Amino acid sequence: MDKFVIEGGERLKGTVKISGSKNAALPLIAATILQKGQYTISNIPRLRDVTTMIKLLSILGGKIEWTGQGTLLIDTTGVENHIAPYELVKEMRASQLVLGSLTGRLKRATVSYPGGCAIGERPIDLHLKGLVALGCDVKIREGYVEVTAKALKGGRITFETVTVGGTENMLMAAALAKGETIIKNAAREPEVVDLARMLKKMGAAIDGEGTEIIRIRGVKDLRPCSYEVIPDRIEAGTFLAACCITRGNITIEGCMPEHIGAVIDKFRETGMEIICDGSTVRASMTKRRPLSVDVKTIPYPGFPTDMQAQIMAPMTISKGVSAITETIFENRMMHVAELRRMGADIRVIGNTAIVKGIETLSGAKVMATDLRAGASLIVAGLAAYGTTEVSRIYHIDRGYEKIEEKLRGLGAKITRRRDENLGP
Ligand code: EPZ
Repeated sequence: MDKFVIEGGERLKGTVKISGSKNAALPLIAATILQKGQYTISNIPRLRDVTTMIKLLSILGGKIEWTGQGTLLIDTTGVENHIAPYELVKEMRASQLVLGSLTGRLKRATVSYPGGCAIGERPIDLHLKGLVALGCDVKIREGYVEVTAKALKGGRITFETVTVGGTENMLMAAALAKGETIIKNAAREPEVVDLARMLKKMGAAIDGEGTEIIRIRGVKDLRPCSYEVIPDRIEAGTFLAACCITRGNITIEGCMPEHIGAVIDKFRETGMEIICDGSTVRASMTKRRPLSVDVKTIPYPGFPTDMQAQIMAPMTISKGVSAITETIFENRMMHVAELRRMGADIRVIGNTAIVKGIETLSGAKVMATDLRAGASLIVAGLAAYGTTEVSRIYHIDRGYEKIEEKLRGLGAKITRRRDENLGP
């Protein structure tokens, strides 16, 4: 296994280019199952989760190859297998995104019931309720979800909780259903909108994406297409956190500032100067210590849960006390214990972390427990006094493309090393 070794204290300077969005690429790849044919999807990040989704698609019968920089050629003509095996789904919960497209294409899907993960139980009951509303029969047997449908018909679903994956599965399953489907309390995340846009390019009849009510009128057939993935808004936000904590001056290129409005507002409150210009965001932090801000994670367009751990890092050295409340996942505070090892003063009460700013963090050996917690530890290590070693960085490789190269390009002292303590 590998670790990152970071020498703290460098103020980040320079330009960084954002990669394609992991959380948009995964449903887009799943959606190619819906209609057989050849797809070209560009701006796909080279990440572990994307590799897992490609493995899954090939098990189902698809043919996928990388051509050049970040482009996948996908041929789903041969997709006939409807079973997503346990070995893959346990690797990546987002495998459940093939439920909707397999059901839409083959009228059946058998997917290993995704287990929980570090940040929470993460059930899929709402996904299944949505599929039942479209006329599917759902059984759970021997750890697998078995979905079958004689025919898919339009239905109505009001999600009692906003669910990104549930909305995405519904969009895919409803695209070819007979009749109209209405999704209420739909997720409004940009990744959901990106999926709707590709489905519309394939011929689906969808309105309201990006709002809480989405209407899908089923069509008889779809056609394959080419598509470009949106930039990764969470990666962009992560670099804002790195700029904030290191008193940096950076230019983020190839992002969509409109996708990180709540994040930009929050970092402006810390005293950062942020100027947006088309697909470029210029951020500079002259204050030695950021001002403390309170954060509450809520569904888009609110402050994203996927940025909660990352903004906590600069708050550990802020001038004052900040309250950071996580409302989406029940166990997304595991970075707190690791930040404490670096000297942070944080108390967790319920789902709120009370972060009392200190002068500076001190480098330590810490461990990534999940993707965004790992990112938070890297951000903290960039400003900590001395050396920080972040182990179990396979979590980070799931969601950040070449993060150490991008940070080195901004002047950070970070290297990837073999972690002799944790074996191969
Ligand atoms: C997506 O996960 C993202 N993953 C997550 O990003 C992100 O944190 C999450 O949306 C919220 O924005 C991908 O897009 C691949 P949800 P998803 O369904 O779809 C509960 C990252 O770091 N819920 O919106 O699985 C659920 O337990 C990852 O990149 C049910 O109760 O999230 C959670 O509390 C982490 N029943 C809440 O809803 C269901 O059937 C939101 O989950 C489904 C969800």
